[in-house]
Amino acid sequence: MKELLIKNIKKLLQTEKESKPYVAGSEMAQLPVIDNAFLWIKEGKIHDFGSMLEIESRTNLPENQIDATGRMVLPAWCDSHTHLVYPHSREIEYVDKIKGLSYEEIAKRGGGILNTAQKMQEASEDSLFEAALKRLEEMTTWGTGAVEIKSGYGLTTESELKMLRVIRRLKEHSPLTIKSTFLGAHSIPMEYRGQQEKYVDLIINEMIPQLAADNLADYVDVFCDVGFFTVEDTDRILEAAAKYGLQPKIHANELDYSGGIQVGVKHNALSVDHLEFTGEEEIKALKDSGTMPTILPGAAFFLNMVYAPARQMMDAGLPVALASDCNPGSSPSGNMQLIISMGSVLYRMLPEEVIHAVTKNTAYAMGVDKELGSICVGKKANILITKEIPSLEYLPYAYGENKIDTVILNGEIQD
Ligand code: NIG
Ligand code: FE
Repeated sequence: MKELLIKNIKKLLQTEKESKPYVAGSEMAQLPVIDNAFLWIKEGKIHDFGSMLEIESRTNLPENQIDATGRMVLPAWCDSHTHLVYPHSREIEYVDKIKGLSYEEIAKRGGGILNTAQKMQEASEDSLFEAALKRLEEMTTWGTGAVEIKSGYGLTTESELKMLRVIRRLKEHSPLTIKSTFLGAHSIPMEYRGQQEKYVDLIINEMIPQLAADNLADYVDVFCDVGFFTVEDTDRILEAAAKYGLQPKIHANELDYSGGIQVGVKHNALSVDHLEFTGEEEIKALKDSGTMPTILPGAAFFLNMVYAPARQMMDAGLPVALASDCNPGSSPSGNMQLIISMGSVLYRMLPEEVIHAVTKNTAYAMGVDKELGSICVGKKANILITKEIPSLEYLPYAYGENKIDTVILNGEIQD
């Protein structure tokens, strides 16, 4: 389909004349809206939009039209943090956690990152690709149009490269916009316990040069937290990755005030993610930094943890992004509509704030803000048409219900 007109749109949300990189602070409570609107898509891009009252001034309107009476149109969600290439689910571990088993007991019974890494060794690229593609297809039905995907269940050079090749294949085959992130520093393999600097050496001297030679990653990630990688490890890895042009997006401050936020900002990270342990110092470091604070409500909810201080961040003038963290251990869902509801229920974010947090701000957090994240002329036509819903507020309110009717990616209707 080359051209499409969507007319009689009840509300066209998240419009902008010129693309700004992100929305921060009190501005997050203001969501641009055009009532009774039209949207014109041409050659996969947003060609024009405005009020239905202006449509008569337009000529050569496309014959291909959708009447969106009673329905709303928004940019498709951007999910800037996922681990959706994985070989098996880990529901036993979740039951074990409810029963109160220790980390070691859970690991013994097949849980934890290292167990996924063990299964990853044997998994074929085809099976990983098929399973991840299916997950992507399901996420599309919930309204996601762009996804960042991490490696990090390999933890050997061979296995990490395998995961990154699977992500490259997903980029080639999926209509979603995909970015890939190298997360060799996700956990310390057993054989390196007590000498983790040797594993960091392997990441720096072997993994990064090899993946860079094949252009397999867009970004680099480190799990900088207590019991995982230290600030010093993180510093070394990010410095090495920078030589290959890999910008950081890091896991930080999920388990403690780890220094992860500060080291991320120091290395000009595109985003720092999780952020349960964020205090005044961390907020000060983030201020005017260009690093997107990204909260992952699915993980905090599923692990029953403390919640990141979203309101304090916005009150301090920071932007906030929300992503799914879709992974088999701590957040086994890629449903961004649930994340929208969690953002509002658990973090007390307003409907307007959560919509910014899953569109514009996540687009920035995965480096696609110039092409996605808002309804703006020239941007990629990755958009959603909702079912007939009474209001914008209904989106976070009606949790568990699929409010999406139609998803359009690159100007093509997805079935
Ligand atoms: O983002 N925090 C670290 N890593 C993942 C969990 C991965 C797993 O348990 O498999 C996360 O939540
Ligand atoms: Fe994660």
